[in-house]
Amino acid sequence: MGKLENSVDLWHTRIHASASAPGVLSDLSLTRPESDPRMEHLMSPVRATTGAARSAALLNPIDLLEYTRFAGEEILAGRYPFVRFDPDERWHQRLYRDRRVDLWLISWLPGQGTQLHDHGGSSGAFTVLSGELSEATYRPHTRSQSEQVHLAGTGFGFGAHYIHDVRNVTDRPAVSVHAYSLPLERMNFYDLNESGELELVATAVTDDPEPAPELIREVGIGAA
Ligand SMILES: [Fe+2]
Repeated sequence: MGKLENSVDLWHTRIHASASAPGVLSDLSLTRPESDPRMEHLMSPVRATTGAARSAALLNPIDLLEYTRFAGEEILAGRYPFVRFDPDERWHQRLYRDRRVDLWLISWLPGQGTQLHDHGGSSGAFTVLSGELSEATYRPHTRSQSEQVHLAGTGFGFGAHYIHDVRNVTDRPAVSVHAYSLPLERMNFYDLNESGELELVATAVTDDPEPAPELIREVGIGAA
């Protein structure tokens, strides 16, 4: 983690340079290849230790966290200098995908965030490369919420039934790397009712953590 932490200042410089022209998107955000070839070859070392050397189909949250840390260090070292920012929605780019894991780079301008959601049964992890992200976590079995702030250089892994809402509530951009195993196939979106209970409001069959609006199916009261 030392390398990651030591690179944060350099990364902040890049972030602010890029943020001066938000909305200028990478061509990759339009093409969305299965894996970004500019990142795929960089992933070989972490695949060797967490992926190919193991026979289990699923990667656990610790391995996923290692993926995000590894990719984060490659990015902070300047070997993947393609982050962009979009004032209309969180910019995101798939970095890598194989049959067991997919890896995404996401940027968050101030005020941008998710809705309360799960990951359709996939486990996950994320590492913050720059800025900071606030996370609200909901635990259905206790109907309780907790909040935590993830600073640059820190990461977190979570299991298959995890429900959270992640936001940039600061006044500066944030960048993070996210991993899922199995690769995302579905997401469910929730609200809390007046009693603090979880209500499913929409679902999306998607391999994208930012599903397109046409993929999101709202779940009305009484819907099957
Ligand atoms: Fe999430």
